[in-house]
Amino acid sequence: MAAAGAHRVIIYGGKGALGSRCVQYFKSKGWWVGSIDIASNEDADANVLVQLSDSFTDQAEQVTADVSRLLGEAKVGAILCVAGGWAGGNASDTALYKSADLMWKQSVWTSVIAAHLATKHLKEGGLLTLPGAKASLAGTPGMIGYGMAKAAVHQLCKSLAGDDSGLPSNAAAVAILPVTLDTPMNRKWMPDADFGSWTPLDYVAETFFNWATGTGRPPSGSLMQLVTSGGKTVATPAL
Ligand SMILES: NC(=O)c1ccc[n+]([C@@H]2O[C@H](COP(=O)([O-])OP(=O)(O)OC[C@H]3O[C@@H](n4cnc5c(N)ncnc54)[C@H](O)[C@@H]3O)[C@@H](O)[C@H]2O)c1
Repeated sequence: MAAAGAHRVIIYGGKGALGSRCVQYFKSKGWWVGSIDIASNEDADANVLVQLSDSFTDQAEQVTADVSRLLGEAKVGAILCVAGGWAGGNASDTALYKSADLMWKQSVWTSVIAAHLATKHLKEGGLLTLPGAKASLAGTPGMIGYGMAKAAVHQLCKSLAGDDSGLPSNAAAVAILPVTLDTPMNRKWMPDADFGSWTPLDYVAETFFNWATGTGRPPSGSLMQLVTSGGKTVATPAL
């Protein structure tokens, strides 16, 4: 059970690179942190483990029930969905069907479940963040499945900002649209890249914390591009 009275956050994808950093960051600020992922994050106060199944409805119902059991009547100040993944490939790719399927599961299924969890467990005035990508503001011919999935996440964010979306009153849904995050995996696979153009995970975790505590929070429905140059990151809304 979540501690009564504490600030609480749910991090969907809390075992990933950005998710783990967010778990650490919110813990360092004294928040109770619940992680949802396919594996436990030992730094979190509680974990909900996702059973990867073939059916969206099975997965969604399992996570929804587990989070309800965990939180009871307690509300959270923020739900940060940073689950996702990446796959390249154009429309002729032999792995197209597989990668389009996986991209949808990793980014869209998780975002839809996070949105529903927000309707049940987010405080009034709370924050829901969703995992978009700047590349999906335009066509992505070399990464078809990824581009489609992230575009759907952007659309969900805008829908949640509308009247009667189901979110609690004054809650905000904000998507982050990174270009490249400075993760261990990216460093492994692109060792010669310009790291000064990659967005530090601490920047994102701190930005989420500020938004969650009311500092500089963009309006609901914002698609916030995270662009880093020369080691400096700027978050600007996509028009
Ligand atoms: N890394 C980048 O350069 C980059 C760039 C643009 C956008 N993004 C997006 O930012 C987000 C964070 O990126 P990251 O590098 O930390 O990703 P990551 O791959 O390190 O972590 C993603 C996490 O999501 C979890 N996950 C996937 N499907 C799930 C499901 N169905 N249920 C529960 N958990 C699930 C994974 O297990 C993993 O722990 C992702 O949405 C990613 O697509 C990343």
